[in-house]
Amino acid sequence: MTRAAPQIVVAGHLCVDVIPEFEQGVSSLATLLTPGRLNKVGPALISTGGSVSNTGIALHRLGVPVRLMGKVGRDLFGGAILDVVRGYDEALTEGMIVDPAADSSYTLVINPPGVDRIFLHCPGANDTFGAADVDLDKVRGALIFHFGYPPIMRRMYLNDGDELAELLRAVRALGVTTSLDMAQPDPNSEAGSVDWARVLANVLPHVDLFLPSLDETLFMLDRPRYDAMQSGVLDRTPDSELLHAVSDRLLAMGAAVVGLKLGDRGLYLRTTPDRVRLQRAGAAFDPLPVGWLGRELVTPCFTATVRGTTGAGDCTIAGLLTSLLHGTSAGQAILDATAVGAASVESPDATGGVPRWEEAQARLAAGWAKQPLQVSLTGWQADGAQQVWRSPADEPEGGPQ
Ligand SMILES: Nc1ncnc2c1ncn2[C@@H]1O[C@H](COP(=O)(O)OP(=O)(O)OP(=O)(O)O)[C@@H](O)[C@H]1O
Ligand SMILES: [Mg+2]
Repeated sequence: MTRAAPQIVVAGHLCVDVIPEFEQGVSSLATLLTPGRLNKVGPALISTGGSVSNTGIALHRLGVPVRLMGKVGRDLFGGAILDVVRGYDEALTEGMIVDPAADSSYTLVINPPGVDRIFLHCPGANDTFGAADVDLDKVRGALIFHFGYPPIMRRMYLNDGDELAELLRAVRALGVTTSLDMAQPDPNSEAGSVDWARVLANVLPHVDLFLPSLDETLFMLDRPRYDAMQSGVLDRTPDSELLHAVSDRLLAMGAAVVGLKLGDRGLYLRTTPDRVRLQRAGAAFDPLPVGWLGRELVTPCFTATVRGTTGAGDCTIAGLLTSLLHGTSAGQAILDATAVGAASVESPDATGGVPRWEEAQARLAAGWAKQPLQVSLTGWQADGAQQVWRSPADEPEGGPQ
């Protein structure tokens, strides 16, 4: 059997969580951590996480031929990561980077009932991941290269993100569309004191689709407002002026498409009005799909029974990228993205709720209800079914799609 060539390559952050099962609660953490005490636990649950695992496996479940490119060491945890990935499909391990000099990234999750969780985290190979780790021959021919979580990958944010900019520039030179997701930098770590506005200014000229969450973006571009919104001094409800101003900056820095994830309030999508910029956005925009120029849209989440939101952002991105591969308009892509995001929260793990693409489409066609709008939009209009809201600045060629 010949395998379909990968249409999307997902590279970047990858780790394994090791979660011992606690049969009974403990009275306090101090008891658990008493020196010399033996704490008996049950079997460990092993699950992979990070952008490569979450977005990569979500794309695989949607039926997209995908290549996973995370870095692991030649060690026990690296073997565990490869085993988990192999469990989905042997071919998914083909692009993985195994570096004998690296230590695989892992997190011990100490989660006894009744007390707060403790994480013991080793960044390992994620911190040493550099541009030279990506074999461009394994990227050539793909339509999209998606990279996730530079804020928790040390070499990617040092020196104003030069390494990341170089990687994305090289990928773009192959004619491949580039896509980037972020993560929240830990304010108390080295990443928390990086000048993220400089990193973004350096990197975004090489990014076609920039898909962070609004919170992460405010942390990076407007720390006073981020702090005020987190502490409740400013209203936490995002409004259209804020979304427009933030996406103005990101488009001016060089991105062609900006998607801002709004947690349980849904998704905002803005695209460049500049036809030449969109035509330079690589293979996924060639030929230029209808309905992607000069868009500004918001959609709430689809209704879902929430069993766990881990990986919801990553799955939303998988939905958006898959929609783009199907040549749909931005108005349909924002629906497809939030459909896959909502399906993902219906299972407790990161990707178990992600359906096949055809199933997601059938659920949409059957009239899947949206949650009420929880974004303050001044002067915006909704389509008939009130599923997608269009800004006054939304001026697609040939009318709304
Ligand atoms: N309660 C919910 N019901 C339906 N869909 C949801 C819900 N919560 C989140 N989503 C979907 O998941 C996306 C996740 O957005 P969020 O802002 O949490 O991204 P993120 O911070 O990148 O998440 P992650 O923790 O996965 O990195 C939303 O845009 C939406 O599509
Ligand atoms: Mg995220």
